[in-house]
Amino acid sequence: MRRAAIIGWGDYTPPAVLTNTDLASVIDTNDEWIRSRSGIKERRISHVPNSDMATAAARQALASADLSAADMDLIIVATCSPDRAIPSVAAYVQRELGGLGATMDLNAACSGFVYGLSVANGMIAAGTVDKALIIGAERLSAFLDLTDRSTAVLFGDGAGAVVVEASDGPEGLLSSNLHSDGSLTEILTIRGAGTESVFDHDVPTTVDMEGREVFRNAVTRMGEGAIVAVENAGLALEDIDVLISHQANIRIIDATARRLNIDPDTVYTNIHAYGNTSAASIPIALSEALDQGAISPGDLVAMVAFGGGLTWGAAMVRWGERTTRLRRVDHELPGTDKTGLELLAARTQGLGLE
Ligand SMILES: CC(C)(COP(=O)(O)OP(=O)(O)OC[C@H]1O[C@@H](n2cnc3c(N)ncnc32)[C@H](O)[C@@H]1OP(=O)(O)O)[C@@H](O)C(=O)NCCC(=O)NCCS
Repeated sequence: MRRAAIIGWGDYTPPAVLTNTDLASVIDTNDEWIRSRSGIKERRISHVPNSDMATAAARQALASADLSAADMDLIIVATCSPDRAIPSVAAYVQRELGGLGATMDLNAACSGFVYGLSVANGMIAAGTVDKALIIGAERLSAFLDLTDRSTAVLFGDGAGAVVVEASDGPEGLLSSNLHSDGSLTEILTIRGAGTESVFDHDVPTTVDMEGREVFRNAVTRMGEGAIVAVENAGLALEDIDVLISHQANIRIIDATARRLNIDPDTVYTNIHAYGNTSAASIPIALSEALDQGAISPGDLVAMVAFGGGLTWGAAMVRWGERTTRLRRVDHELPGTDKTGLELLAARTQGLGLE
């Protein structure tokens, strides 16, 4: 059966770091609270538009597969923080890198990358696509409201990307399981960034979240998704070699692994360094896991995610023979001499940062 095999990967994490201590200097929080409740030590704040981060990650992924954008039949960018309503972030990536394949953004919030992988796999199975770029890219710092300490400490910016190609071999996406419960739209939402704010100028741009409800649903739903996906692949939970979860909260990741009875050693995490980068978190973690040698040829890699919607999804990927990049490229983006805290100034009027 034709399916999508991952043959390239890359990531871009902005250079400007925002530590818990930095946050504690402007809002009523502290390093101990953030680390113990979420596992986050620091996150990155972007000095460039989201599409630049997406392009940088894509450039690496293409080099890693030794392909060019002209080879791509499809570019999907999973994001809920696009530069503009039109064009898509994917179109900007194509503008920078070239090609004439289809481009689209996909918003399933933090589940977006798993959704995107599954959509690309479906198009590959149908024979309409041979090669695709799937990118998760987010600039959630644009939505950070430093007057709400319960959400402001959780999110960060970044991008990750993979190149997939059609395969008839054992490697590739064996199964995926996507869901959403629309009755839970209000437990995790970002107001003020859509058309409703055009008509109602009083809608502030904020992340509204019922943390405990999201937490409870995340553990249950990611666990259910993983069980169905692994069964649909004709495998068992103990066959999972590496678990790459959406990096939202270390306690959610640990609770999910316990629920699935998965050996903690198989769980890859990097939330301490980047916080919750939404749709970017799984491809960034995947790219880092590969570069650190945490994935071996033939491994069964399980990816599980949840996010606003409430969406959730799981994907079981049999890794191929290659776990190293064919080519490496340096990022071409300009650096910044600003700190993460300084970059947040535009979002922090009245908090003495300007
Ligand atoms: C947000 C989250 C970390 C909060 O952890 P929690 O253990 O549920 O904490 P609570 O919300 O019960 O808050 C406990 C206390 O800490 C306080 N608090 C909240 N944010 C704080 C912060 N940044 N610093 C210090 N104290 C904080 C609260 O005001 C509350 O104080 P009170 O007891 O005096 O009222 C946790 O619920 C969570 O991670 N949920 C899922 C979020 C998520 O994954 N979102 C993204 C989905 S993709």
